[in-house]
Amino acid sequence: MGRVSFLSELFATTDAEKLRELGTRKILRRALTARDLIAIALGAMIGGGIFTTIGTGVKGAGPAVIVSYLLAGFTSFFAALCYAELGAMVPVAGSAYTYAYATMGKLFAWIIGFALIFEYGISAAPVAQQFSAAIQDVAKTGGITLPGWASQSNLLIHGSWWLPSSWDLAHSQYDVVAALFVIGLSVLLSVGIRESATVNNVFVVLKISALLVFIAAGAFLVHGANLHNFNPVGWGTLHPFGGMADYSSSAQPYGIIAIGAYVFFSYIGFDTATTTAEECKNPQFDVPVGVIGALAIGTVVYCATAIVLVGAVPWNHVPIKNPLVYALAPLHIPALSWVITVGVLAGTTSVALASLLGQSRIFYVMARDGMLPPAVSAVHPRFKTPMTTTLITGAAVAILALIVPLNNLLNLVNIGTLMAFSVVCAGVLYLRKRRPELPRSFRVPFVPLFPILGIVCSLFLAVFGLSRMTWTWFVIALVVGLIFFFSYGFRRSNPKEVVPVEEPPGLGEFA
Ligand code: ALA
Repeated sequence: MGRVSFLSELFATTDAEKLRELGTRKILRRALTARDLIAIALGAMIGGGIFTTIGTGVKGAGPAVIVSYLLAGFTSFFAALCYAELGAMVPVAGSAYTYAYATMGKLFAWIIGFALIFEYGISAAPVAQQFSAAIQDVAKTGGITLPGWASQSNLLIHGSWWLPSSWDLAHSQYDVVAALFVIGLSVLLSVGIRESATVNNVFVVLKISALLVFIAAGAFLVHGANLHNFNPVGWGTLHPFGGMADYSSSAQPYGIIAIGAYVFFSYIGFDTATTTAEECKNPQFDVPVGVIGALAIGTVVYCATAIVLVGAVPWNHVPIKNPLVYALAPLHIPALSWVITVGVLAGTTSVALASLLGQSRIFYVMARDGMLPPAVSAVHPRFKTPMTTTLITGAAVAILALIVPLNNLLNLVNIGTLMAFSVVCAGVLYLRKRRPELPRSFRVPFVPLFPILGIVCSLFLAVFGLSRMTWTWFVIALVVGLIFFFSYGFRRSNPKEVVPVEEPPGLGEFA
């Protein structure tokens, strides 16, 4: 293959008009409205991040964790606008992966598909661990305590972190509940039991109500004095790759930037709404309103929760475990802690379900495009789901949940998602330049400024907020992924031959 044909092959794109036409054919039932999309996005977004990791956030940045939430929300805002433009323009399943395939060619599409494995697949693992911690607390109140080795994930590794000389399996800890939780959800998804609109709405109401109860009750405990020393840690070292050291499960005072990259986890998931663009009544309106609406609601609720938490408890007293329950303890109302616990369980379950479902859908679309072996998109004849893929994905995620500590997983999810956000923002810029004539019912304002800000903020958080170790694992995984791409997907996929999704897996029964 000559150099020119190699490059043109690498950067060949799908005809965006063709994708648009596919998306507007009534292949799927078009039943979703903007309100449904907001509920879907919140269902996938509000989870363990705000209920549990906020404790680590406060330890790491003090009351200025509020600024960290704003920083992460600000970054997500630009990405949300870009997701909305592409999602409304190319309303085809597959989220950012499909946009990259349509606009930037198969190499970028592969990279983004790979980044989405972190955002969707891997993210189910830390969320499952947060579910496990909450359910173990409930069990403790009934007198049931798991042995230490089965209570959380902590695989002990000797040697350097990148070249282990041995694994101390006997003295390691394993999060058995988290692993079983992932396997249970994967089995449910693989037999086609899906979160219906009603179940999703119930989860969303439960978790948002829990946060509103926290905000309302906690407001009575707020003391202005707790906010006087607002920024005790500062912005952080601002060294590249100077973010949270992953082996420490205890929080360190890392500062606003590193904690911004850490609490960014809480925002992940809002883009899920774009993956259902094919099912919207009017994608051009529903997608932007759904994505941006969910992000706006999430940001307000997150910032209000953070303000009440650091207003109610001196920041250096906020615990890493169960911070919201701890903050409300002085009110001596046991029902409040149950409300929060129900919120955590509803939040983690709905987020984990959405991530596992999203991952199987993305693998499915990638296999349809020839990026992965066809077996990945094989649909079970009876259950009409990609059963094998769902179960293999579930098994891999369960292993991660079993052995890898929470913070390591969180940071890997964050780096993958930040990379996906940058590519989506770049996709908007690229397509505006290459295909200015395509109709865009939603347009990102202030182009090129806003997409550039999206790229800059995402890369800034990833470089200055995440650690060398997170980057190293990400790059190692990326290299392995690229080797696979050049030996398989590069040859087999052809963006010119995109076919519609005839039997999409895991589509919600949103009627
Ligand atoms: N945003 C999701 C959560 O906080 C991943 O659980």
